[in-house]
Amino acid sequence: MTKVISALSVSVDGYITGRNPGPGQGLGDAGFLFDWYFDGDTPSTVFDGFKLSAQSAKVFDALASRDGAVVCGRNTYEDSDRFGDDGSPHPTAPLFVLSHRPAPRSHGRQTLITTGIEDAIAAARQAAGDKDVCLMGGGVTSEALKAGLVDEIVLHQVPVLLGGGRPFFQELPAHIRLELIKAVPAPGVTHLHYTVIR
Ligand SMILES: NC(=O)c1ccc[n+]([C@@H]2O[C@H](COP(=O)([O-])OP(=O)(O)OC[C@H]3O[C@@H](n4cnc5c(N)ncnc54)[C@H](OP(=O)(O)O)[C@@H]3O)[C@@H](O)[C@H]2O)c1
Repeated sequence: MTKVISALSVSVDGYITGRNPGPGQGLGDAGFLFDWYFDGDTPSTVFDGFKLSAQSAKVFDALASRDGAVVCGRNTYEDSDRFGDDGSPHPTAPLFVLSHRPAPRSHGRQTLITTGIEDAIAAARQAAGDKDVCLMGGGVTSEALKAGLVDEIVLHQVPVLLGGGRPFFQELPAHIRLELIKAVPAPGVTHLHYTVIR
């Protein structure tokens, strides 16, 4: 059964970027939020070039191998330089970009959706088949939460207080309860895996 999952690297105070993220600047002054992808000695079985700690590799590869499609927000798309030649942040999963505005279609693995989060997730679900849909971006995750479409949230929590940046979660109209299903401490990061209670 396809799940919709948002799994992002985040500071303890809830930021997924530092200050000044942008095209050519990645996560701004907090690029180290991604250090745990490369600081270990266990190669990812899904992403070429990723070398994680053994604990993180187990968590990361379990999620990444289930990704059948990615939905990202326009900010993630632009700040990641439109995912360059690959066209997607994932080696096999196609990308659906959610925006209110037209965008140049630069790659066959990208589809622009301008009709809202429900349509973006529906298209991604169809592409994902029996795999999962992965959300990228705080705005997109928050929109999907508001629409009741998120099944699981993973905080790859890095032990730092950034004090500013783009938040993982934007304002929501009501409380959303979570249940912790797994917590995995690892070098440089703690993986907190929650299900969304509906
Ligand atoms: N730490 C991590 O693991 C991680 C992972 C992914 C991304 N990031 C970073 O996070 C930053 C982006 O996050 P973010 O929260 O700022 O933005 P985002 O979720 O990537 O994008 C938000 C944008 O998506 C569009 N959008 C959102 N909801 C929409 C809707 N219902 N209908 C149509 N369009 C909609 C809007 O774009 P327009 O109105 O402009 O069209 C909105 O401004 C980037 O810098 C990225 O590199 C970090």
